[in-house]
Amino acid sequence: MANLFEVDRAACVKCGACVRDCAFRALKMDGGAPRMAFPERCMKCQHCLAVCPAGAVVFDGKSPRDSVKLANLPLPGLDAVENWMRTRRSVRRFAAADVERGTLMRILAALGNSPTGCNARSLTFTCMPSRKAMDRFRRDFISAIERHRDGAKLLPRWLAVPAIRLRKGEDDMFFRGASGMLVVSSDESAPGVTTPREDVTIACAHFEMLANAAGIATCWCGFLKLVQQEVPELLEETLGLGRSAPFYAMLFGLPAVRYARGVQRDSYARVDIRDEA
Ligand SMILES: Cc1cc2nc3c(=O)[nH]c(=O)nc-3n(C[C@H](O)[C@H](O)[C@H](O)COP(=O)(O)O)c2cc1C
Repeated sequence: MANLFEVDRAACVKCGACVRDCAFRALKMDGGAPRMAFPERCMKCQHCLAVCPAGAVVFDGKSPRDSVKLANLPLPGLDAVENWMRTRRSVRRFAAADVERGTLMRILAALGNSPTGCNARSLTFTCMPSRKAMDRFRRDFISAIERHRDGAKLLPRWLAVPAIRLRKGEDDMFFRGASGMLVVSSDESAPGVTTPREDVTIACAHFEMLANAAGIATCWCGFLKLVQQEVPELLEETLGLGRSAPFYAMLFGLPAVRYARGVQRDSYARVDIRDEA
C-alpha cells in the first residue's frame, strides 16, 4: 500500500504551502520539511498535492505529474457562467434522439469531481442513458404502480392518474418525455459520510451545468422524491433505492424547444449584506 503523503525532498522548496492548506492540520513542518503527523485527520482531499508549487507531493501513490495543470487551462469566465445562470431552463420537451454516449460518459466522469462533505465521496450515479433504457424504466415504473394498485393499496391521485395517462401514451408528467435520467444517490452508512442529502443535490446541480454546456437539456425530477415519501416500495422495486436513501434525479435529453430570451423574476433571492455599521 502506498504511503498517504510522500515528499520528494530534492524537489520540495519547504514553503509550507501544503501544511497551511491542510484543512484538519494533519500535516506538520518537521526539520524544515512537511510530513504527515496525524493521518487519522486526513480526509484525502489532496489539497497538499494540488497546492505544492514544486510538484513535490505524492499523495497516496498519486504523482503530481498525472494531475491536470492549471496554468493556461481554459476556464469559463464570470460572463459565461453568469449568462448561463440567467438563462438556464428546466426543459420539459425532449427530442427523440439520444444524447451521444461519449459525451454523456465524459460528463459523468467530470461529475465525479463534485464536492462531498468531508470528502466522503460515497455517491452512485445510476443512469438511463438512452430512450430505450428510459422507456424500459417507464414501463417498469408503471408496472410497479399497477402491482400496487392491484394489491388494493391506495395510491395518491397525483400518482395514479398520471400513471394511467403515461401508460396510455397520452403524456408523461413524471419524466417529461426525457430520453435519459440520472439518479444520484449516496450511501449514508458509508464511513465518513456526513452530508448525504447535500452531496446528491450538489452533484445534480453540477450535472445540469455540465450537461447544458454540452447542449444537453435537463429537468429536475422532484416527482420521484414525492414517490419515495409516499410509496417508497416503488423506488425499491424500480431503482433499488432504500426507503430513506438520499437521492435526487435529473431528466435529460436533447432539447425539442429553444428559448429566445430569459425570464423576468418578480423576486430573486433576498440578499442580506451585513456590512459593518
Ligand atoms: C428541487 C426541484 C425539483 C423539481 N421537480 C420538478 C419536477 O418533478 N417536474 C418538473 O417538470 N419540474 C421540476 N422542477 C423544475 C421547477 O419547476 C423549475 O425549476 C421552476 O419552475 C423554474 O423554472 P426554470 O428552472 O426553467 O427556471 C424542479 C426544480 C427543482 C429545483
